Amino acid sequence: MKILAVVGSPRKEGNSSILTREALKPFQEQGIEAALIYLSDYDFQDCNGCEGCKETYKCVIDDGMQDIYPLILESDALIVASPAYFYNITAHMKAFIDRCYCFVVFDKNDRSVWMSINEASALKYAVVIAVCEQDKVEEMGYTAEAMEKPLEALGYRVIDTVKALRLFAAGEALGDEKVLRKARQAGEKLLKTLRLKERLKDG
Ligand SMILES: Cc1cc2nc3c(=O)[nH]c(=O)nc-3n(C[C@H](O)[C@H](O)[C@H](O)COP(=O)(O)O)c2cc1C
Repeated sequence: MKILAVVGSPRKEGNSSILTREALKPFQEQGIEAALIYLSDYDFQDCNGCEGCKETYKCVIDDGMQDIYPLILESDALIVASPAYFYNITAHMKAFIDRCYCFVVFDKNDRSVWMSINEASALKYAVVIAVCEQDKVEEMGYTAEAMEKPLEALGYRVIDTVKALRLFAAGEALGDEKVLRKARQAGEKLLKTLRLKERLKDG
């Protein structure tokens, strides 16, 4: 079992990072391989819409995303986190998601027929973490949905979404027991989901 966590905030000690690390704890405590990457450590460009991926399901742009693709493919589940930036995910997270377009395959004659390469092999699982400073969920806008919808299209069942409100300064999440517990519970649920799948596979 392998987990990949992807943080879209430029603040490595920020709230998205803290909550992601909390969600990873149940895996680490069981000695399960869990990688955490910060998109700000990678140099990659936006999807340019070249469609060069459509025969091989591999992106042809030779940049930092090529280091991330194997991690995505090898993992059974993703934990994806972003702060709200003007009611939406960060530009970095959006670029990351768009560059996963290479994993979507279309019927040659009918583009209304499509699926992700995950769907063809095995459904995967995901947890979404969305963070904002305001105290009403509407004020995080589309942040959670902007991760949930593409993940579903990419063949991930989103089993839990943590919406963390009232977090502004980097590190504030450390003082919010309730949201830390929610993040940990999301990680626990993801672990239980993967364990259940293993049990079914083993018969
Ligand atoms: C460019 C920018 C735009 C933001 N837009 C919103 C917003 O639309 N709604 C909100 O509640 N907070 C907004 N915030 C606040 C951040 O979401 C908040 O500080 C969050 O805790 C940052 O998470 P991080 O520590 O993981 O980077 C914005 C912050 C920045 C820098």
